[in-house]
Amino acid sequence: MKRIGILTSGGDAPGMNAAIRAVVRAGLSYGLEVYGIYNGYRGLIEEDFVAMNRHSVSDIVARGGTILRTARLPEFKELSVQQKAIANLKKHGIEALVVIGGDGTYRGALDLTNQGVNCIALPGTIDNDVASTDFTIGFDTALNTIIDAVDKIRDTTESHSRCSIVEVMGNHCGDLALYAGIASGAEIIITPEIHPDDQEVIDYLKKLRAQDADRRAIMVVSEKLYPSIHDFAKKIEENTGFVTRATVLGYIQRGGAPSANDRILGGRMGAYAVDLLMEGKGGEAVGIRGTTLVATPIPEALKMKKVWDESIRNVVHQINN
Ligand code: F6P
Repeated sequence: MKRIGILTSGGDAPGMNAAIRAVVRAGLSYGLEVYGIYNGYRGLIEEDFVAMNRHSVSDIVARGGTILRTARLPEFKELSVQQKAIANLKKHGIEALVVIGGDGTYRGALDLTNQGVNCIALPGTIDNDVASTDFTIGFDTALNTIIDAVDKIRDTTESHSRCSIVEVMGNHCGDLALYAGIASGAEIIITPEIHPDDQEVIDYLKKLRAQDADRRAIMVVSEKLYPSIHDFAKKIEENTGFVTRATVLGYIQRGGAPSANDRILGGRMGAYAVDLLMEGKGGEAVGIRGTTLVATPIPEALKMKKVWDESIRNVVHQINN
């Protein structure tokens, strides 16, 4: 193997640049040539390739986003599109790839591996919705951004004795809401995994209000659970006596300088991905279990389900009581 490529795909996540840097530097240290592919899988189709050297990745470890840009390309499921990508890779002598992204990115990596181009997939998404790893690159930074925002929202919520609902990302995975809720001392956490019905929420808030008419309440809620979080806030206000405001944190959660944890995670995973390619491996998903890096065959990784530790469920239960 002489030449490898690196791309980022799906939603960007802080720490992706640290992973790109590690792949480039580790590749060069093995004597490989490393090509960056712009705009995810779309760059494979459009031959958007750039040769990278050690300076291409200088000073990016502290930057959010991805210097290689990213895109979502649903058409990459089609065999003809994959074949075009493989033809372009062959034309440029790129024999293997490291791809960084979420589940969709993994499927593309598996398809390419099955057709002869070894791919190693790294989990890069703020959502932490990849079951083959304890943590994804970007999750820790997004979590800290959310906590910072909730701390600020708490100040005004407290001053007015209101209820604030903070909607966070997660894409059907409650980890961001769960961890942010715990870390910011929220009274209520609502996620796809723990979703009390509206009446339970109302009853609980009424109980709090009855105990102390001056108190405030913070609710951290995962996205995609309510058709309109503002309508939900209205319902809470009408039924509890709490003046209630909803804040949708949105894309602020995806930006910003990566945390120390995400820089280290991205760096470790990037270097490990190159080690795996050098061992002739492909179709593997890199993850971290505890402090140990692991590789799981992508088909197995895609079938895995995330399970919350019972102790975490207990914390939520205690908070909500
Ligand atoms: O990156 C993951 C994620 O932020 C999800 O939490 C969110 O639902 C989605 O991406 C939004 O992505 P976009 O608007 O970029 O398609």
